[in-house]
Amino acid sequence: MAGEAAYIDDLPELAGTLHCALGLSPVAHGTLKALALDALRALPGVVDIVTAADIPGVNDWGSIVKDDPILADKELNYLGQPVFAVIATTRELARRVAAKAKDTMQIEPLPAVIAHREAHQKGQYVLPPMHLQRGQARAAIDNAPHKLKGSFDVGGQEQFYLEGQISYAVPKEDGGMLVHCSTQHPSEMQHLVAHALHVQAHQVQVECRRMGGGFGGKESQSAPFACIAAVAARKLNRPVKLRLDRDDDFLITGRRHCFWYEYEVGYDDEGRVLGAEITMVSRAGHSADLSGPVMTRALCHFDNAYWLPDVSMHGFCAKTNTQSNTAFRGFGGPQGAIAIENIVDSIARALGCDPLDVRRANFYGQGQSTPYGQAVDDNVIHELVAELEASSDYRARRDAIAAFNATSPVLKRGLALTPVKFGISFNVKHFNQAGALVHVYSDGSILVNHGGTEMGQGLNTKVAQVVAHELGVPFESVRVTATDTQKVANTSATAASTGSDLNGKAAQDAARQIRERLAACAASLHGGEASQVRFAAGQVEVNGRSLPFTELVTAAYHERVQLWSDGFYATPGLSWNRETLQGRPFYYFAYGAAASEVIVDTLTGEWKLLRADVLHDVGRSLNPAIDIGQVEGAFIQGMGWLTMEELVWHPKTGLLTTHAPSTYKIPTANDCPADLRVRLYENANAEDSIHRSKAVGEPPLLLPFSVFFAIRDAVSSLGGHRVDPPLDAPATGEAILRAIGAVREAA
Ligand code: MTE
Ligand code: HPA
Ligand code: MOS
Repeated sequence: MAGEAAYIDDLPELAGTLHCALGLSPVAHGTLKALALDALRALPGVVDIVTAADIPGVNDWGSIVKDDPILADKELNYLGQPVFAVIATTRELARRVAAKAKDTMQIEPLPAVIAHREAHQKGQYVLPPMHLQRGQARAAIDNAPHKLKGSFDVGGQEQFYLEGQISYAVPKEDGGMLVHCSTQHPSEMQHLVAHALHVQAHQVQVECRRMGGGFGGKESQSAPFACIAAVAARKLNRPVKLRLDRDDDFLITGRRHCFWYEYEVGYDDEGRVLGAEITMVSRAGHSADLSGPVMTRALCHFDNAYWLPDVSMHGFCAKTNTQSNTAFRGFGGPQGAIAIENIVDSIARALGCDPLDVRRANFYGQGQSTPYGQAVDDNVIHELVAELEASSDYRARRDAIAAFNATSPVLKRGLALTPVKFGISFNVKHFNQAGALVHVYSDGSILVNHGGTEMGQGLNTKVAQVVAHELGVPFESVRVTATDTQKVANTSATAASTGSDLNGKAAQDAARQIRERLAACAASLHGGEASQVRFAAGQVEVNGRSLPFTELVTAAYHERVQLWSDGFYATPGLSWNRETLQGRPFYYFAYGAAASEVIVDTLTGEWKLLRADVLHDVGRSLNPAIDIGQVEGAFIQGMGWLTMEELVWHPKTGLLTTHAPSTYKIPTANDCPADLRVRLYENANAEDSIHRSKAVGEPPLLLPFSVFFAIRDAVSSLGGHRVDPPLDAPATGEAILRAIGAVREAA
């Protein structure tokens, strides 16, 4: 890291720039009877206070369902909901004034529902329930030789992007508005700002050079800040910057959904699941946001890598008086898959088998189909897991761990190897499209613009590589510029791990068109067939001679050849019925597996990851260094979710008490195991993806399931591996200690 990348807060501020801070609801639920802002307006440095009444257009930023007010006016639905925006001459002043929010509001309190289980009991949902079924689950369970019934709880997770939410709105001529926005979804921001300002989309320009991380938290929830900054900038006709303080970011925005599960399965002597019923209840928060597609992805990942012949799944998005939960790396996939992993792990213990054997007995065979009707015809999980089992020395280490535990009364080791299968594509069909614009300048240098956004995942590098490859020029000849709604229109969020799949293909399409025009020009100037012209290493081979790419470009310019092109891509073959939850929502699957070994201190509940072996399928890697970085980052991030990141809402007031790094613990470099062995699996995408690569952004977040189940394994050693440790996620030290006590008592 050279510290050279500029983020929005690094942009030189325009003269007259004002700063914004938000006044938040101090209650989880209530009716706003009166708002008295005159005293605040009179404070020094305050230029204005913007409320819902100042929004010229629609007071809503909901991305799918229109249930998300930009600024609350009547009903307050969670503690932290923005009610007004203080506009002041400095950020510090704005924040100090906004902190007085509580004194300005006259509120009639209403009963608040904080926990998703309580909302479920009351039948309070943000969306209708979803059902995904195949076969006769009830009958299959009833007829199975063995049964297992239980419940399981998994916590949510804060995205903790290092760069918080920020928007900088700059009024332009003719009622135009430029918004610099840290967002994964510039086009959606453009439309929502246009609606809020009551102008046409063409009057709003949204630009995002890069984000300091998004992780799903800027897929939809960058919107209120873009809208508020733009409304204030319009009202005052001055540039307005809104950069959230970290505590406010925690209190205002949503995160990964907590999930609660109730399940019953029937299985045979080998541990094969014959029938499964599961109810999943997510904590959606006060509004729908992306909870629907998140639940859909959870339901579509309950199978993980396993063939479930008869299955009945029910998803409920519980409405609570908390922040509206949203996308986070994996987008419900991790929450769906960990439920079956927990079940399979328990089955192994009940049968006294090694969990890996039970997992393997359940793997999809070739050509079997998922509960939602998509054939799993690119399955490599058998080969991949066999390779990792051998390379991680799984069996020998299992024996060594048993021997260690037999002689170690306090420290206990545990091991687990878990598989991943993750579906790639947006589960909303029309999002699976992308556009790009490639300019070849007459000096041979190349500028690329595409609809994707850079958030540290290396998308711009990959797209530049694709373009450089297509035109046979060095990587250094290609530059990717900021994402800008004025360059590529109607883009999708950079999400669902599809950034390079979609934008790589679109940029390739644009570059290919230019190359074909250049080839035709070369053939007309130098003879030979256009189809025989080759572009490589900055040279062009035409009719037996070689000339520099730059020379051909200059010649083509003089011949009046169009040296720029747009490109477009739409993922083929997708279908999805939103009513029946059947079809082919995914273009392909990405696979992976990880083996993790932990050591647990049974006196304190502290633990340490000793070694992790990862084998992950990225198809034919576009960039192995980036891909390994993504796998490592996702592994540690997923480990944080399952073991240390704990969100605590006050059960009565609804205050998110863990609203800063002081109380919310994310993993650090010290939590990386000393021995982390990440390898990419030799594979090519069976589908015609960009250079046969596979998406890498989200799937590896599921790899650290192995850490969670290794902890469970270590704890279960205290009961001779006969007692199922009652362990929910996150497996914090306290939770581990409780599970240890329960296993000891039962054994
Ligand atoms: N990597 C970094 N460094 N920062 C991020 O914010 N977001 C993740 C993943 N990897 C993220 C990241 C998420 S949630 C997604 S969906 C993908 O990157 C999005 O980018 P891609 O589709 O280009 O892989
Ligand atoms: N992932 C991320 N964002 C989305 C998805 C998805 O699968 N579907 C709709 N928005
Ligand atoms: Mo990623 S959760 O799809 O932004």
